[in-house]
Amino acid sequence: MPIRKNICKKIMEIFPAYPDPLDPHLWEIFNTNEYIKGTVDYQRNVRYSSSLASYEWEKNNQISWIRQYFFSRITEESLKGKTLLDLGSFTGGRVTAWTEKYKLSKGFGLDINPIFQLASEEFAKSVNANNVYFKTGFGEKLPYESNSLDFIVSTDVFEHVQDLGMVLNECYRVLKKGGKLCVAFPQYMQPLEAHLGMVTNAQALQWLFSGEIIAEAYNEIIEQRAPDSYWYRPVAFPLRTWEKLFSLNGTSIKDFKSLILNQSWTSKEYKIKPILTDGRKSEWLVFKVLSKLLTPFAYVPFLNELFLGRINCILTK
Ligand SMILES: C[S@@+](CC[C@H](N)C(=O)[O-])C[C@H]1O[C@@H](n2cnc3c(N)ncnc32)[C@H](O)[C@@H]1O
Repeated sequence: MPIRKNICKKIMEIFPAYPDPLDPHLWEIFNTNEYIKGTVDYQRNVRYSSSLASYEWEKNNQISWIRQYFFSRITEESLKGKTLLDLGSFTGGRVTAWTEKYKLSKGFGLDINPIFQLASEEFAKSVNANNVYFKTGFGEKLPYESNSLDFIVSTDVFEHVQDLGMVLNECYRVLKKGGKLCVAFPQYMQPLEAHLGMVTNAQALQWLFSGEIIAEAYNEIIEQRAPDSYWYRPVAFPLRTWEKLFSLNGTSIKDFKSLILNQSWTSKEYKIKPILTDGRKSEWLVFKVLSKLLTPFAYVPFLNELFLGRINCILTK
C-alpha cells in the first residue's frame, strides 16, 4: 500500500491543481474563512454570485444542461405549464432560469445544505421569480407528494448520493404517471470525473488505483497544504462505508441499469455521447477529433464504462 500510495501521490503532484476560493460553482466556497467570518453583506454577495453564475449560464447560453443533455427528446413546448424538480439544485440559479425560460408552472429545487436553500431563495426573490420553491432535504426521502411532479431533472448528482436505489424509488414515487426523470451523471470509471480537481489535474487515476489509495494520497497532499487547504478538505477521511472515492458512490453503468431493471418505468431512453463532448473544452478541435474517434467505444459494453461521457437517460413513469 505505501508504495502504490506514493506512486499515486507523485502522479498527483506532477499535475497539481489549486481551487479558486471565489469560484461561484464550488460549494466549498461557503467553507472559506472569508465567508464564515465575513460580514452579512459579504456572505450575501457570495451566495448571490453563486446563484447568478448558473442562472446566467442557463438563461443566456445555448448549451444549458437541460438543452445539452435532454432537448433532443424533450421539447420546450412539452415543459410549458409543467412542474419540474431540480434534484441537487445547489444554489438554485439553474431551476430559477429554467422556470422563466421554459415557462414552467412551478419550479422546485432540493439540496442537502441549508446554505444552498438560503442562497436560492434570496436569489429567486432578487429576480422576482415567485413560482420557484426550495427545500433542504435528501433525494433518498423526497419531501413531495406522491404522483405530484411532471419532470425531475438531476445532473451530476446521482454519483454523490448515499443510496441510489432509494433515490430512484423516490423519484418514481413523486412523478405523475407519464412524468419523466431526466438524469445525467458520470459512471465511476469515467476517466475525467474522479472529482479530484481541487488537488490534481491528473486524470483516470481510478483506472490504476483503488479508491482507498487515491484517498490516502489526496489526503496527504491536503494535509501538506494546510491550513490553506482547510476550506476544500473532503467531508470525511477515511472514506465512509458507502464511498468508493470522496463523495462518490462508485455507480457503474451496469449498476445503474440493474437498479432501474427492478422498477416499473414504461420507457428508458439512453443518449450515447462519448467522453470529451461536454464543457467548454469540447469546442477545441483536438477534443472534437478525439471524441469522434472514441464514439464507437462508448457503445460497447464494458468499454462504455471507460469511454461514455455520462450515463444520460430519460425514464418515463
Ligand atoms: C456536483 S453538484 C451538481 C449541482 C447541479 N445539479 C449541477 O449540475 O451543476 C452535486 C449536488 O448534489 C447535491 N447532493 C449530494 N447528495 C445529495 C442527496 N442525497 N440528495 C440531494 N442532493 C444531493 C450536492 O449537495 C450538490 O449540490
